[in-house]
Amino acid sequence: MPLSLTIAIDGPAGAGKGTLARRLADYYHLPHLDTGLTYRALAQMLLAKGWPLGDEPHAVEAARLVDLSNLDRSVLSAHAVGEAASKVAVIPEVRRILVEKQRTFAVQPGGAVLDGRDIGTVVCPDAAVKLYVTASAEVRARRRLAEIEANDGTGDFAAILADINRRDERDMGRADSPLKPAADAHLLDTSQMSIEAAFLAAKAIVDDVLAKK
Ligand code: DC
Repeated sequence: MPLSLTIAIDGPAGAGKGTLARRLADYYHLPHLDTGLTYRALAQMLLAKGWPLGDEPHAVEAARLVDLSNLDRSVLSAHAVGEAASKVAVIPEVRRILVEKQRTFAVQPGGAVLDGRDIGTVVCPDAAVKLYVTASAEVRARRRLAEIEANDGTGDFAAILADINRRDERDMGRADSPLKPAADAHLLDTSQMSIEAAFLAAKAIVDDVLAKK
């Protein structure tokens, strides 16, 4: 029987879960969905129309319009869009609609890699492998600053750190599907790890699960 493998990756903003998810998807030849992009696409629609982020009927309408096959990372990667996404993501009905779409992606016959905040706990509770990727807020702020500077921008470390702490609080503190490790998730703290080291650690976890299948 061909391999079927679902890998759920969760963690706070900037922990490196996106990069890790892409590397694992590549290595195991699995389709990948960055579920953050679905919340970002919805937020972008609201911002473009000038609708308030807390306006539930409009947010729900926009959530229904999110198209998984048309998520353009380059358009959605702006910091302001991420902030707005975190705000609309507290609305339970919005989450219900997006989670349903994400699940249609997750149930592909060969499996898939999904990353986000609630994949192991809500979207794919039966995933064969669950990873919870973290790094200290200081390390994540330093990485973000380096990324901004690599793109010829400038940033203020203290402001970025405050931003990250605020985002963590919102994503971990919301009532519906807060960010937290699933009981059976493998914790991966990348604070002291290179991207390569994090990939190798994750690969070892996945290979171990596959060997026992
Ligand atoms: O991973 P990201 O930064 O692109 O996500 C943006 C926001 O979307 C995040 O701060 C909270 C929300 N989100 C969520 O609530 N659940 C997910 N599975 C993915 C993202």
